[in-house]
Amino acid sequence: VVSATFDWPEPYPADRVGRPSRKAATTAIEVHLEVLKGEPLRRTLSEHLKGAGNLGGQERRFVAFASRELSRHMRLLDHASRLLGQAPGKLVLREDQALVRYALWRRLFCGLAWKQLAPEVRLPGPVRPRSLKDDQLERLVSAPLPPPPAEDSPEAAAAVRHSLPGWLATRLAAEAPPGEAAEVFAALNREPAIQLRARPPLDAAAAAAALAEESVASHAVEGVPGALVVDALGMRVFESRPMRARQLQVQDVGSQLIVALCGTPEELSGRTAADVCAGAAGKTIGLADRVGPRGKVLAGDLSKRRLAEGRERVRELGLRQVSFPVPLTLASAGVVLVDAPCSGTGSLAREPDAKWTLRPERVAELGATQRKLLAETAASLAPGAVLVYATCSLLKEENEAVVEDFLSRHPGFRVEPAGGWVDARFCAGPYLRVWPHRSEGGGFFAARLRRADVPA
Ligand SMILES: C[S@@+](CC[C@H](N)C(=O)[O-])C[C@H]1O[C@@H](n2cnc3c(N)ncnc32)[C@H](O)[C@@H]1O
Repeated sequence: VVSATFDWPEPYPADRVGRPSRKAATTAIEVHLEVLKGEPLRRTLSEHLKGAGNLGGQERRFVAFASRELSRHMRLLDHASRLLGQAPGKLVLREDQALVRYALWRRLFCGLAWKQLAPEVRLPGPVRPRSLKDDQLERLVSAPLPPPPAEDSPEAAAAVRHSLPGWLATRLAAEAPPGEAAEVFAALNREPAIQLRARPPLDAAAAAAALAEESVASHAVEGVPGALVVDALGMRVFESRPMRARQLQVQDVGSQLIVALCGTPEELSGRTAADVCAGAAGKTIGLADRVGPRGKVLAGDLSKRRLAEGRERVRELGLRQVSFPVPLTLASAGVVLVDAPCSGTGSLAREPDAKWTLRPERVAELGATQRKLLAETAASLAPGAVLVYATCSLLKEENEAVVEDFLSRHPGFRVEPAGGWVDARFCAGPYLRVWPHRSEGGGFFAARLRRADVPA
């Protein structure tokens, strides 16, 4: 047993966090309270912001950032609370729990002293009911912070520092490249940068130059044609000319690689592609750009709500090559993407509440759904067609294991090595494997399979 500890975080630079009002602080705590009741963070946040017409732009950004941070660092904040003598288990009211986390986040991650924090949290309110007195909060923010006690292993220490539930940290540590688990944990716990795809004919360099003209700094991503990452924080990029002209799509770098694995623009131009788990059409739009106006993309999804969102995005972009046939038939498609429902363990940086609701049993359930979805899709594929199976999971159980089980039952299919379509740094064996600590954005997996021309 190698015991190990970690350092408390260095506070963010002041301009990273902004200066909130009491109203903004209250809203962030209210959003966290909803998350503690089991509501999904993304939807709750968007509803609260919609209903908060009295908050200015800076305040809204603070609410979004702070409420994500409270989910992101929950385990570390509770650890600090315990070491400071306020055991989280003894706090009966959720409101008290949320207030403690908020105060400790402001202390540890924003470097605030009680004098600066008090206006945000002092009685009356800011949330009701509340049993914590101001002097209890003051003590949490002002008492000396002891060094974190040693954990059983470097991975266990990293799991506390980067707030991963124990079971998930153990799973991820077993699957991470040797010696890199702590880096994976850290990468899954950082607010992600805004990642963009330059839509053809624009390329990443021209997009970066156009953004620079409007003082938005960005850089192209090596090895991923068309991908760029915004350097500065803030939302100015959304008002930029290329964004308003719809020449840019917000899309994770790994998602762009999955679309690239479906085929080059030359291979796909004028062809038919299908996207069977299209959701809000993120990858559908990438496929539509690749097949071009003379090609076709057939999109479907189990969820009517997500599909309606996808349909709306496609309509706004005027992509007439995309249709949403019901039922979705695949016989005419040369390439079919199965962007399967998954645990989202590669996207925890973006969805920080997901790690607290995910359970090992759910991963097993998802594995069964993925196997079924892949087999059903394969059954309606034309001979010679390509099937791309993708997830934003880091777990083998949802990735290699699903594909290998599929191949063992479907001798008519073979793997086409991902290296033929994406840069070698994103490949592990024949598969696409994007690790969140090695590149920008989240973690992803994909396999490119081809049905033999003559059915076996
Ligand atoms: C990872 S998300 C898709 C994200 C989307 N492709 C994108 O790039 O924005 C998985 C999607 O699969 C859908 N789904 C789940 N089970 C399905 C099934 N049996 N058939 C089709 N879609 C399904 C979910 O509704 C969800 O939208």
